[in-house]
Amino acid sequence: MIDRPAIAVRSDEFLDDPVGCLARARAAGGVCPTTPDNWMLVTRHELVRTVLLDPETYSSRINKHHTVPAEIADEVGALRAQGWPYTSALGTNDAPEHTRLRRMVNKSFTPRGLTALEPLVRAAAEELAAALPDGEEIDFQAMFGEPLPVWAISRVLGLPAERRDDIRRWSTAAVATIGSNPSAAQWVSYEADLLDFQLTMAAVLEANRDRPEPGLIAELAGAIAEDGADDGGEGVQMSLLLTLLRELVVAGNETTGKFIAESIRLFGADETVWQRIRENPQFATNVVEEAVRLASPTQHAMRVVTRETDLDGVALQPGQLVMLSLASANRDERVFESPDAFDPDREHGRAHLAFGQGPHMCIGAGLARMESVIAWQVLAEHVKSIVPSADSGPYTRSYILRGPLEMRATVNRR
Ligand code: HEM
Repeated sequence: MIDRPAIAVRSDEFLDDPVGCLARARAAGGVCPTTPDNWMLVTRHELVRTVLLDPETYSSRINKHHTVPAEIADEVGALRAQGWPYTSALGTNDAPEHTRLRRMVNKSFTPRGLTALEPLVRAAAEELAAALPDGEEIDFQAMFGEPLPVWAISRVLGLPAERRDDIRRWSTAAVATIGSNPSAAQWVSYEADLLDFQLTMAAVLEANRDRPEPGLIAELAGAIAEDGADDGGEGVQMSLLLTLLRELVVAGNETTGKFIAESIRLFGADETVWQRIRENPQFATNVVEEAVRLASPTQHAMRVVTRETDLDGVALQPGQLVMLSLASANRDERVFESPDAFDPDREHGRAHLAFGQGPHMCIGAGLARMESVIAWQVLAEHVKSIVPSADSGPYTRSYILRGPLEMRATVNRR
């Protein structure tokens, strides 16, 4: 055991105040053990970057989900038996398979692909912004933050509008056991939703093989069939595709939706920010970078050590789990002056690690940035401010994905 304080990342104290707990961990050293798991929590910007850029020493092949509780293992097992096995796609994979899959989906997220999407996202933001009532308390997360990315990812995937409610339900289920521990009853219901996701998407994929339609799903169905690199037969191919689709759907909604809502807490009440965006729409990009640094919707990334190494003077053995605190790196006072202040004019604001770095850097970063920049530009035309309520609502109870479940706020329209 190293001589540094152990951080209880699953405790209420940590989940209630990650910023304060991480600041104390950072002050104690760049690497601290966690309790009770004995993972290594990496808190300094420079060290987090080092790990992200060294996938050979720090592998992504880990399971981020909690283990199924014993009392519902049979019930969950029976549900899973009706679908396809969970496998590793992008987030929990290494080269060379990671590289191959990433190349396959990359083209849907290139700047060219995103430009085509921009007017559609703008139209959706306009529709949502126009519906916000003036001067009364609303749940901004439910009325704007959540629907916008669901709408956008449906377009990327080429799914019809009537699937949007399903996408929302599947997203919630898919992240429910990442870095948090639902009750047994909730777990079974999430598992049923995930089975529904698999069965629905498998049918959509099959339909696209025969009748190709535009969209990522059609491209993936074609690419896998031609590629033939999986050698385990049809089931393995389908399970890989379904995991990939699950990652794309979930990562897009849960992070971006919560990020848009959390931004309201950071600057919603500040009329000057809205006015500046209105006068200079380009300023929205600074606002987004600064807000994503402070919000860090993906608070932590996980890796496993593959060979003996040393990090910040701490010897690490193969098999050691490493928890990379993107949230802490983004408030590292050695990199960001007055790190807790919301300052969209700060120099080097883009040095944050909110989207990761290296081979696993967020594939949807361009999409998330575009959605939130458009959200602020469109809203700035409609509102003077969006003031969060004193009790704006609860947050997720996860040390990996953090964000508001609700964002109660009052919109002051122009
Ligand atoms: C504010 C919004 C978002 C944040 C903060 C965020 C954050 C991140 C981070 C930190 C990673 C790297 C994790 C690691 O290194 O282990 C990541 C990976 C990923 N993100 Fe995002 N993300 C966002 C939005 C999106 C969107 C809109 C999509 C897709 C449509 C997306 C899809 C993915 C996927 C598939 C990966 C895995 C990439 C790989 O392993 O190669 N994300 N994201």
